[in-house]
Amino acid sequence: MEADISRILIPRETIARRVRELAGEIASTYGDEASGLLLVPILSGSLIFTADLMRELPFVMRIAVLSVSSYRGASTQGGTPNIVQDLKLDIRGRHVLVVDDILDTGNTLRMVMGKLAERGPASLRMCVLLRKKDKAPSDLKADFVGFDIDDVFVVGYGLDYNDQYRNWPEIAVLKPELYQ
Ligand code: XMP
Repeated sequence: MEADISRILIPRETIARRVRELAGEIASTYGDEASGLLLVPILSGSLIFTADLMRELPFVMRIAVLSVSSYRGASTQGGTPNIVQDLKLDIRGRHVLVVDDILDTGNTLRMVMGKLAERGPASLRMCVLLRKKDKAPSDLKADFVGFDIDDVFVVGYGLDYNDQYRNWPEIAVLKPELYQ
């Protein structure tokens, strides 16, 4: 796997430090409402981020996963996002925090936030590990952002290319010849 990596964009210690800080930001934003929080990770990209983030949250909370597919396959271009596995509980009246790996074109989070908003949560916020600062639409505001990055296709720490490299422990850029 290492032979496929061209450069490390964000090393693991930097990710770990920022994830701890994000947990602090989340805890202070929710305050007394934190114990009613429902974390909604979007699978599969946010798997590792969520696992680390939730273990830094110092309050009782629930988690319910949402699986979204954008039929990207072996392409680095996003497709039309679809919910392939919906939440198994009613979010009406709950404080909901959606967690995703990256805010790129914003198509995925726009669709997810729109659908969840219709279900009447008490509050609905969004936390992303990465945001492509020049690409993310200005009308789609993430409440918590780990890192702003340039418009490069990244893998590792849960992010994939063609469903591979999710287990690379850092945020990395692949060698260009690997992209089809
Ligand atoms: P958008 O915001 O474009 O992102 O709807 C949809 C999903 O596409 C994936 N994505 C990426 N995956 N490196 C990846 O490994 C990237 O640079 C990248 N950009 C988008 C990701 O799963 C996101 O949720």
